Amino acid sequence: MNNIEFIDLQAQRRHLGARIDEAIQRVLDHGHFIMGPEIKELEAQLSTFGRCEHAVSCESGTDALLLPLMAWKIGLNGGGRKDAVFVPSFTFASTAEMVALVGATPVFVDVRSDTFNMDPSRLRQAVEEVKAKGELTPRAVIAVDLFGQIADYPALTEICRSHGLKLVSDAAQAFGATIDGKQASHWADCVTTSFFPAKPLGCYGDGGAILTNDRDLAEIMESLRIHGKGSDKYDNVRIGLNGRMDTLQAAILIQKLGIFPEEIVKRNKIAARYSEALAPVVTVPFVVDGAVSPWAQYTLIVDKRSEMQAALNKRGVPSAVYYPRPLHQQTAYRDFPMSGNGLPVSEELSSKVLSLPMHPYIEEDTQDYIIESVKQAAVKPN
Ligand SMILES: Cc1ncc(COP(=O)(O)O)c(C=O)c1O
Repeated sequence: MNNIEFIDLQAQRRHLGARIDEAIQRVLDHGHFIMGPEIKELEAQLSTFGRCEHAVSCESGTDALLLPLMAWKIGLNGGGRKDAVFVPSFTFASTAEMVALVGATPVFVDVRSDTFNMDPSRLRQAVEEVKAKGELTPRAVIAVDLFGQIADYPALTEICRSHGLKLVSDAAQAFGATIDGKQASHWADCVTTSFFPAKPLGCYGDGGAILTNDRDLAEIMESLRIHGKGSDKYDNVRIGLNGRMDTLQAAILIQKLGIFPEEIVKRNKIAARYSEALAPVVTVPFVVDGAVSPWAQYTLIVDKRSEMQAALNKRGVPSAVYYPRPLHQQTAYRDFPMSGNGLPVSEELSSKVLSLPMHPYIEEDTQDYIIESVKQAAVKPN
């Protein structure tokens, strides 16, 4: 079998037909490349889809994490990294990176071995430890909905409320994920997402957004993303940045958002097909009762990962490791605190996870070939 793509963006483009080209052409014709009319249109559609009153588009999923932290003035607590923001270590760098960038301290919390998401009991312990030590002020929690699986927001919200902490859902990999029909916006103070091309809802470059029901927060972030503008763009009322989304990306996203709900259904069918076939031979992803994932990744746990990857590679099946090292073991982050006696679950997962090709347009015969390749290579963990 030739040319199996890990994520096939061209297949999606074919499915969209001329719609994207026409949307791009419209922007070329009107020429409002910065904050053109597609920006507001996209934001209105994102807030409807995300069941939130406000959607603020921005330049990337990384900026989407930065903007609420800046709006809440996290990191400005007397200098010296006095503010604590609790984050998982088993995630992409941006989650902790923006906390450190604003001058706060990321405190790493372990994840659950089944969902790969922040473990509420470890979060509670971490907040209590930080409070007992008295060196840092707990300010916020950033929970990541890794690979598309929604974090345990009911439990996380309760902890955040009881300690007066802001809750951010980093839904870069999970925009559209639900539990009992509710999205993270039902619980979190804001939901951030990324439209990096490989994300379930991606544009053709960088892009991101923040969703919130908090009007004041939305207004401050709208100002921050345009250099802290006040009533006009040359009236700077706060320190901000250039964090706007390009009109072209908004035009592309409007078209892609139109088919996103049907793509989520397709992704779920593909995931279910993988799981049914592979559960007897490897550890397949666990899905929380009542949850729907957009399946940014379909991730197995395998004991002999490099052997499995080599065997798949030989048969032309691409696979990927997200993430080979948790953040707390990386040079830039190793001096930041961790909760409890370390993060054993994050460390174990990093050594065993392996993601298979996942996108809405995998043909059945291609998927059968991938399944057969995994079965041939599998060594079932005890
Ligand atoms: C969990 C998570 N958070 C944040 C980001 C950052 O998004 P972006 O690449 O759009 O800046 C990513 C992107 O890979 C991510 O996976």
